Amino acid sequence: MALTRILIQPIFALHSPDRSKPLLNPSSRATVATDTPIITSTTKWSVDSWKTKKALQLPEYSDQKDLDSVLQTLDSFPPIVFAGEARRLEERLCEAAMGNAFLLQGGDCAESFKEFNANNIRDTFRVILQMGVVLMFGGQMPVIKVGRMAGQFGKPRSGPFEEKNGVKLPKYRGDSINGLAFDLKSRTPDPQRLIKAYCQSVATINLLRAFATGGYGAMRRVAQWTRDFTKHSEAGDRYQELASRVDEALGFISTIGMIKDHPITTTAEFWTSHECLHLPYEQCFTRLDSTSNVYYDCSAHFLWVGERTRQLDGAHVEFLRGIANPLGIKASDKMDPNELVKLIDILNPQNKPGRITIVIRMGAENMRVKLPHLIRAVRRAGQTVTWVTNPMHGNTIEAPSGLRTRSFDAIMAEVREFFDVHEQEGSYPGGVHLEMTGQNVTECIGGSQALTFDDLGSRYHTHCDPRLNASQSLELAFIISKRLIKRRVGAKQSLSPF
Ligand code: PEP
Ligand code: CO
Repeated sequence: MALTRILIQPIFALHSPDRSKPLLNPSSRATVATDTPIITSTTKWSVDSWKTKKALQLPEYSDQKDLDSVLQTLDSFPPIVFAGEARRLEERLCEAAMGNAFLLQGGDCAESFKEFNANNIRDTFRVILQMGVVLMFGGQMPVIKVGRMAGQFGKPRSGPFEEKNGVKLPKYRGDSINGLAFDLKSRTPDPQRLIKAYCQSVATINLLRAFATGGYGAMRRVAQWTRDFTKHSEAGDRYQELASRVDEALGFISTIGMIKDHPITTTAEFWTSHECLHLPYEQCFTRLDSTSNVYYDCSAHFLWVGERTRQLDGAHVEFLRGIANPLGIKASDKMDPNELVKLIDILNPQNKPGRITIVIRMGAENMRVKLPHLIRAVRRAGQTVTWVTNPMHGNTIEAPSGLRTRSFDAIMAEVREFFDVHEQEGSYPGGVHLEMTGQNVTECIGGSQALTFDDLGSRYHTHCDPRLNASQSLELAFIISKRLIKRRVGAKQSLSPF
């Protein structure tokens, strides 16, 4: 059965040139509010209609001319992704909405200029591939791999200022906006950072594409996607065991001549995503796709609206309703069921399956109480969405040292509630959204490495929220995989749920 699934899963690269059509006609770039509206709505949408609404969380630049000149430059730059790729992702997500695929979305909370290098990109990509294998093997269904990578820079903040020893400065808002160092120069928003973020995004996706198509992401390398810290951890050992089984299976089907050199075994499918936060930047990459005659934000394949910017009448929702990319909606315990239904309706009036992914982040306890109401309201409204759990953002705590952390147990508990609620409601748990890295950092406590508050100081590198390290990520994948097996075989009695 496992082999059949591997065979039929359509894997191709990020993204094989032979499968991508030429999509963009540079001269079709939209600039003014007179563009043809692309969706049915009472008000007309254009790439800059968001400017008529209230925009929260945008940085204030001191030099408007400098900002305008940067935006003009970005406007002239090539897109980072192609619309056809985003369309294909939407098709895959439609499968997840129907319970026939599982979304694995992960990467940094905030990409940074400092941590930008080939090894970091490769290591995060590799752990996502490894987790994908674990989930695919357990769930016996395709795993859609999407990185919080190649553009995940801007951060929404709960307040505008940070105070230390009597000094008050603007908060850090991500490397595309200002610097982490606590001094006035670094914390002052600088538009030139947007150009640097663009260049880093392009270089990152370039390497991801190379890995995905150039052999690194090949399924037959499954046993080689490993490194010291996973090799010598419990999760690493389990992964090695599973990889040998996959290897043997591939050897067998290749011996009988079924998949030799097929793209399924030689390439990996991978997409990019980030929070749609910095609207002037996103507008620069919003281009009319000449194939479909609709607008895509070509800064990433998938964009999500954050918990702090999802107001129904806000600028972010206005912008997102007009782009055709698949979209995510973050939902905390503050999300009201009716509000969610309205938001989905604004963003997806035609109820296109695969377009909307709801990313639930509310902690285990809230999940048990609130998620059923969200699921029922969406179902009553006849809306099709992909339900995903983000067990990170509702579980952030402060360690005695002042460092922000998350406990592996709390993350696991939230994932468990997510599966339990879907089981109870007869709906589909469609995926997981994680803040994670391929590095051996010490940012989240717990897991089989039993990291404690005292360990946090040794390798705490995140620029924003704490991430699962490689070993914790893989360990979580095995836990979720077990749950997917349970769902698949329905053998409640023979498997102890985590
Ligand atoms: C995030 O995903 O990094 C984030 C800020 O999430 P949320 O909007 O859910 O707080
Ligand atoms: Co975060």
